[in-house]
Amino acid sequence: MDAPTRSADGGPHGRGSDRGWFTPTQPPDGTGAHAPAVPPALPPAPAPPPPPPHDRQRAHEQQQAHEHRQAHVQKRAQVQRQAHEHQRPAEPPPDQGFRPAPDPVPATGAAPSPDAYALRRTLAELEPVADKATSYFYALLFIQNPDLRALFPVAMDAQRDRLFKALLTAARHADDPATLTAYLSRLGRGHRKYGTRPEHYPAVGECLLAALSRYAPDTWNEATEAAWVRTYTAISQIMIDAAAEDEEQSPAWWQGEIVRHELRTPDIAVVTVRPDQPYPFLAGQYTTLETPWWPRVWRHYSFSAAPRPDGLLSFHVKAVPAGWVSGALVHRARPGDVLRLGPPAGSMIVDHSTDNGLLCLGGGTGIAPIKALVEDVAEHGRCRPVEVFYGARHAGDLYDIDTMLRLQRAHNWLSVRPVVSDGPTRGLCGELPAIVRQYGPWPAYDAYLSGPPGMIRSGVDTLVGIGIPSHRIRHDEIGGLMAAAPR
Ligand SMILES: Cc1cc2nc3c(=O)[nH]c(=O)nc-3n(C[C@H](O)[C@H](O)[C@H](O)COP(=O)(O)OP(=O)(O)OC[C@H]3O[C@@H](n4cnc5c(N)ncnc54)[C@H](O)[C@@H]3O)c2cc1C
Ligand code: HEM
Repeated sequence: MDAPTRSADGGPHGRGSDRGWFTPTQPPDGTGAHAPAVPPALPPAPAPPPPPPHDRQRAHEQQQAHEHRQAHVQKRAQVQRQAHEHQRPAEPPPDQGFRPAPDPVPATGAAPSPDAYALRRTLAELEPVADKATSYFYALLFIQNPDLRALFPVAMDAQRDRLFKALLTAARHADDPATLTAYLSRLGRGHRKYGTRPEHYPAVGECLLAALSRYAPDTWNEATEAAWVRTYTAISQIMIDAAAEDEEQSPAWWQGEIVRHELRTPDIAVVTVRPDQPYPFLAGQYTTLETPWWPRVWRHYSFSAAPRPDGLLSFHVKAVPAGWVSGALVHRARPGDVLRLGPPAGSMIVDHSTDNGLLCLGGGTGIAPIKALVEDVAEHGRCRPVEVFYGARHAGDLYDIDTMLRLQRAHNWLSVRPVVSDGPTRGLCGELPAIVRQYGPWPAYDAYLSGPPGMIRSGVDTLVGIGIPSHRIRHDEIGGLMAAAPR
């Protein structure tokens, strides 16, 4: 099957995206030349194997998926031709009695493009049945491409909607190429660790379209399908290009041997690993970790120290109830165990081009990247005021307060304030954002937030409310946060 490859133009809205996602091919010599614009139709898909008799519902789903796939394959060649010939209409497609899109205004503030308009209508219709569409998408993907199942974790309950949701998120931001490209490039680089290859993208795209057309039938028509084809092609191309570029300079993953494991509280451990090759990152960033006990289950963890001369990497991990990876890292991992690490990510890094102060909010293990930021400022040797508010529910949960107070004693530009929301304390009592507001305003400060998603959301709202412009507020990735459990 043909697949998108590295593109010459690459951009999400370049003419290249009009080719349809099946059209660019990866030639055997890897030169990146593209195949003819309209590919031949796929052969009919093989019938799925007979299901076990006890699983009728699943059998029914699978049969439907198969039938749908057959119809889809027959229609596809025609759609591809239309996608290829499609010229962007000057006006959005005529209203056919569909519900309005949930968010008709794109991030740029301009009117949505016709494609974005069509995508959003699909999404509005899909929203109430998103779970079913996701299940159908994966059922179809694994029936049609059994070899792809091995790339995913055995149990996908908590995580399985992330791929699907990201596709939808990308579609939502179709009119904001800068944000979209940055997001998708990171995603494409991160996919190298899963073993994703360019030829996998068309398979995923076909199943996505099949799920969309099935679960958003009222808004689905050929023009809509062509819009999704163009968008998915563009998304894939950005991810593939970013992965290919990354391949020239970085491994797909690193191995890291645990060299130290320190239990700070019954459920928080500081884990230090030695990567098998140099691991470049910036203070404030995070990575993904896979443990030997849960293959292909990756979770995000922030670096708790700025890059060190010995190359060691440290993480603060809190074991959440029934948490797979965090539980293993806190209660099972020991020196000598080997983890896998994905590439670094995250934009919560210090802007060294300004002398603004740093206002830092760290909740729970969110203090880990804040500590790394403090070390980074110290290493740069410029005396910028750094105000850290370190929040936890109970005083006993402030597991790293001694380290932070030691840093405060060492640097007269640093101030650390513990904040406890529940129970007795000799420090400040209340919710972190409210306390920070009391100490404001913060006119000459850039803000950095890390911790549970709820704390970050209310923290950002508070800081914007007291006049810190949003471009001077940095925090862990929102997409990742929305997908991840609280910490
Ligand atoms: C950018 C980013 C950086 C992160 N950095 C860190 C870090 O430095 N240290 C750290 O410890 N974590 C961090 N996390 C959270 C981490 O990625 C995992 O989500 C967390 O460790 C739980 O993973 P798990 O596999 O153990 O739990 P899962 O198996 O994913 O979840 C098990 C169950 O526990 C629930 N659950 C999850 N968290 C909690 C909680 N806090 N309280 C109660 N129930 C919960 C889940 O909803 C689920 O039902 C970060 C997350 C992001 C997005
Ligand atoms: C446009 C295409 C795609 C998008 C937008 C996308 C998006 C995502 C996202 C957001 C995640 C969650 C974890 C992360 O951030 O890395 C993810 C995970 C994953 N993706 Fe993709 N993906 C795409 C294509 C593919 C393809 C073609 C494959 C190969 C089969 C693939 C395989 C995986 C795997 C194996 C995971 C891990 C799943 C898990 O942890 O449960 N993805 N994808």
